[in-house]
Amino acid sequence: MAPIYSRIIATGSALPERAVSNADLEKIVDTSDEWIRTRTGIRQRHIAADGETTGDLAFLAAQRALEAAGVKASELDLIVLGTTTPDIIFPSTACLVQQRLGANGCAAFDVNAACSGFMYALGIADKFIKSGQSKKVLVIGAETLTRMVDWNERETCVLFGDGAGAVVLEASGEPGIYATCMHADGGYKELLWNPVGVSVGFRDEPNHGVRIKMAGREVFKVAVKTLDSLVDETLEAVGMHESDIDWLIPHQANLRIIEATAKRLQMPMDRVIVTVDQHANTSSGSVPLALDYAVRSGKVQRGQNLLLEAFGGGFTWASALLRY
Ligand code: ACO
Repeated sequence: MAPIYSRIIATGSALPERAVSNADLEKIVDTSDEWIRTRTGIRQRHIAADGETTGDLAFLAAQRALEAAGVKASELDLIVLGTTTPDIIFPSTACLVQQRLGANGCAAFDVNAACSGFMYALGIADKFIKSGQSKKVLVIGAETLTRMVDWNERETCVLFGDGAGAVVLEASGEPGIYATCMHADGGYKELLWNPVGVSVGFRDEPNHGVRIKMAGREVFKVAVKTLDSLVDETLEAVGMHESDIDWLIPHQANLRIIEATAKRLQMPMDRVIVTVDQHANTSSGSVPLALDYAVRSGKVQRGQNLLLEAFGGGFTWASALLRY
């Protein structure tokens, strides 16, 4: 039997209207544009308006992807949404988006893998298509991470932004996603986490609110090392070499981490999609936002090989190598 591939037939994305520059943050915490730019590559981030949710951004990104694909919501047979900032505890944000799109009836669920959420969602959707279970799948990565940032803590508040991206996948005889890789190591949980929630309880006292906590330097070191072996593993899974990759579309957390991965792949930076300067770290939103930017700006062309990867809290890390 001929193999079934998942093909990305279209992309979409959405950002909150309000952009906040590094200079704006200088007024809130003891930081500087120079520090933020040189340490992270970030120049600005978009921040959701009061009342604007992860689901709102996901819905817009999904609508744009479906429109570009020429696919009706009623044709979808699965929606997988990566997020660590769902609108409400339940129903899942995937279900909320499904209802707004008018895709009622198909399977819909969220995946929480922190910043690797979209890559996990993409890998899962790919398996559904490869198994013959699904034909048309909407995969979304969406976050409002700034909702759980401590705006008094300069070490973290300058790093994050809000946004969403989506892709429509279709079963095809042509490649397609060649391989996806997914990993996690919960042993690192305390280096990057938000340790409150339903079962342990929400605590609102100082230092225990719903806030991201990160040991930045340690995360940085593990991220670089782990992403090096992840790209090696992904190339090996497909039997490709560094030179076969047309574009690296990495998680947008820190330009220095992106540059380290590009170096490992012997790729010049003009073959790497960088949006961290404009979006900051949008967690699950980051890779699909970067992909949509790459497609709509005309950088990524049909037939090119793309390597997508992400690393985040958990730790989790995941990748996909595909022909666009
Ligand atoms: N402005 C000015 N100074 C600052 C700021 C700031 N915003 N933040 C920290 N500093 C200071 C620190 O206090 C420290 O001062 P000291 O030397 O007097 O003690 C100094 O700057 C250097 O701090 P470092 O932590 O060593 O800075 P580093 O070069 O490691 O950069 C950063 C910090 C940007 C956080 C980096 O470590 C990083 O990007 N880490 C990885 C983040 C990441 O990839 N996260 C994964 C995904 S996120 C997710 O999954 C939700």
